[in-house]
Amino acid sequence: ESADVVIIGAGPAGLVLGNILLRHGVDCVVLERADREGVENRARAGFLVPNTVRILERNGLDGGVRRGGREHGVCEFRTETGRFRLDYRRLGTGEPHTVYPQHELVADLMARFLDGGGTIRFGTEAAAVADADGPAPSVTVRDADGRPGRWRARYVAACDGRHGAGRRSLPPGTVRHHRDHGVSWLGLLAEAPPSLDAVGYAVHPRGFAGHMARSADITRYYLQCDRDTPADAWSEDLIWDELDLRMRASAYGPLVRGRIVQRSVVALESDVLEPLRHGSLFLAGDAAALLSPSAAKGANLAVLEAELLARALVDALVHGDPEGIDRYSERCLAHIWRAQEFSHWMIRLLHERADPGDAGLFRERLRHVRLASLRDSASRQDWFAEQYVGI
Ligand code: APR
Repeated sequence: ESADVVIIGAGPAGLVLGNILLRHGVDCVVLERADREGVENRARAGFLVPNTVRILERNGLDGGVRRGGREHGVCEFRTETGRFRLDYRRLGTGEPHTVYPQHELVADLMARFLDGGGTIRFGTEAAAVADADGPAPSVTVRDADGRPGRWRARYVAACDGRHGAGRRSLPPGTVRHHRDHGVSWLGLLAEAPPSLDAVGYAVHPRGFAGHMARSADITRYYLQCDRDTPADAWSEDLIWDELDLRMRASAYGPLVRGRIVQRSVVALESDVLEPLRHGSLFLAGDAAALLSPSAAKGANLAVLEAELLARALVDALVHGDPEGIDRYSERCLAHIWRAQEFSHWMIRLLHERADPGDAGLFRERLRHVRLASLRDSASRQDWFAEQYVGI
């Protein structure tokens, strides 16, 4: 079997790419390991920056976001010395986030692609990409019953995440810049309405706690935990007690409790691959770079890269102009490193716990000052707002 562009992975990156290619009449296929329900029900991120909404809009993919997305523009920091709020939609570039659960976005994009005549091969796992250094690459696959197959292509877009076939098929010598931030979060989805009208960031001697709105009856919480903590180590009561303590509920108001419907431990890690193109193989989304969840940039970068890649492939295939594919890697990396820098800053803002020893205390004092200047300095707040919703 063959297609001009074989896309591996039906996440935000693969589906935005597929939709734009389809709209421009480019012959493409999406290979996806999971089945349709599996893809549609995977709860992930939920904060879209304005640039993401604009990309969806200009490519006619914003129907669901327009109907179901909610504007969000305030965050609240709770610290040892009190709390302060930043109305970031009125600072910096003056723009809000749009809260829209990622699995709903993925479901919209998938429906749109299929309704438009696109092909998604569900239950098809890419094993490897072969001959990417020549003009006729191919993707070896296995179907759900383990039967092997092969897709021939002119270009392959690996949008299959950090453990996908794209990353496995890179030539030796590809650089992977990796950073383990040394902290872990227990990520929770609670069947409860939001407890505050803001993103809540609590910095506490027992560790970070976070609160993020998802929908009217589902809220995301995070609790910093030890690296090796099993996700089910804490009972639901213990989780809520710990959230109350770290979010300082006794001072600032109770959290609305509910059943914990999903939990997982995430190690905060970041990486960037360089370059993002190898001959006729391109990486996008998590396959290209992993962003720690501290600044919610991952899905937004995935959409940005997908649009850049789509335009570049349309230029190459339809207009015979290779400029876009030649500059794809360099263009994406500029955005990726800026997002990495801000995510890294956020991690250091929220986490450095005083561990014994001067170095720990030194870092801890710096973190206090960093938070205080965010509270007190208008220019710092403008910078924060610009970075927070920027891409
Ligand atoms: N073959 C086929 N499909 C694969 C393979 C494979 N070998 N490996 C992974 N996949 C599929 C997964 O099942 C998934 O549907 O690729 C898709 C990758 O989608 P995402 O993980 O959502 O990645 P991406 O599109 O890059 O979006 C990245 O989503 O939640 C965020 O943190 C995440 O911000 C990041 C964004």
